[in-house]
Amino acid sequence: MSSFDTSPTGNFVIGEHDQDALVAIGRRTMSKNFRQQPLVAVKGEGMYIWDRAGKRYLDFIGGIAVNGLGHSHPRLVEAGSRQLAQLWHVSNLYFNEPQILLSERLSEAFVDGRVYLCNSGAEANEAALKFARRYGSITRKEPNRTNFITFKKSFHGRTMFALSATAQPKYHKGFEPVVPGFRYAMFNDIDSVAALMDDTVCGVLVEPIQAEGGIIMPETGFLKDLRQLTEDNGALLLLDEVQCGVGRTGSFFAFEQEGIRPDVVTLAKALGGGLPIGAMITTEEVADGFQPGSHGSTFAGNAVAARVALEVLNVLEDDQLISHVRTAGAYFMQQLDRLAKKYDFVEGARGRGFIVGLGFNKEYAPEAMLRSMERGLLINRLNPHTLRFLPPLIAQHSHIDAALDILADVFEDLKRNPPNLE
Ligand SMILES: Cc1ncc(COP(=O)(O)O)c(C=O)c1O
Repeated sequence: MSSFDTSPTGNFVIGEHDQDALVAIGRRTMSKNFRQQPLVAVKGEGMYIWDRAGKRYLDFIGGIAVNGLGHSHPRLVEAGSRQLAQLWHVSNLYFNEPQILLSERLSEAFVDGRVYLCNSGAEANEAALKFARRYGSITRKEPNRTNFITFKKSFHGRTMFALSATAQPKYHKGFEPVVPGFRYAMFNDIDSVAALMDDTVCGVLVEPIQAEGGIIMPETGFLKDLRQLTEDNGALLLLDEVQCGVGRTGSFFAFEQEGIRPDVVTLAKALGGGLPIGAMITTEEVADGFQPGSHGSTFAGNAVAARVALEVLNVLEDDQLISHVRTAGAYFMQQLDRLAKKYDFVEGARGRGFIVGLGFNKEYAPEAMLRSMERGLLINRLNPHTLRFLPPLIAQHSHIDAALDILADVFEDLKRNPPNLE
């Protein structure tokens, strides 16, 4: 494993400022909507990143589910570099080769899907919602079929349409009025969905696992029931797999393990391995609602992002990473649970594959995250009671053991020196 060297002949850094100075400049000049830790990342390799001060961290958050193949994967570096040297961008006035080959692969994965490439998760959901409204009002010729059902505790992104679908009041605060036409049901409660369903609903949008909401797992049969309910009522089922898609749960799409096929699925995050790209995939019938000019984005299908995404799919297949996630994810959850049992303030693990949450019965998550970071492990807190782990799909048992050793040390420390929660 290489190390990070800040000397002039060592790794690439841009300026003379040390880490503290850079953080101070960032805090002074950048908009205030993020809560960054005082860590300036300068290098990534495999499961590790290094900060500007030369400290190494084991990365169990992977850019929030983005770095599926870890950092600077040699095959992504090679594919991206060659593409950078050849062609970056031509707009959608023309095709480029990577976007076509990527679309073909995603179409096959969905089985005869139609693919709209974009730049982020919110944009993919934005497209899904727009497609659904067009489908209801134009394809089905039902002008009143414009409403949506989404779920409390969901998260679908920050653009106004995606934000309006996101049924968490804290994200709406200060941005009202939200886009009209959303009804909010309870996750895992099919009766609450049925109660809101009528012939004005064009689509039901749901995350197969509610991620930002706290790693909330679907109960057996809930997504199947949703599929049936939407079908019976002429509404589309839209699955937001922005966080849990691209192999993270142990299948390429999370829905494959639920025995259903949605009308629309959205992807982003891990698709580009770290470059910004999103995708909305839908059936031919739904896709028919769009004609040239009805939707678009200048950067959609950018050649470099698409080339790297195509290579992500190649590596997933060649290295059989999705089956690896199933076994390694089960090992991680089992060991995490074993550790949790030793501490009365830890509740236990939940999740699937490499999307894992750990609950506390006290508000210990923020402090657990900070104390892990001090010890060289990057994880994330979803709320005061929940930690989230989203390791790159390449994480091996040795990385899992190393992360668990650090967590054991952190929990022991929390037991001896409980945080002041005043
Ligand atoms: C399930 C889900 N949908 C949508 C989004 C929004 O994606 P983006 O931040 O790329 O716009 C996220 C981001 O965390 C997400 O987890």
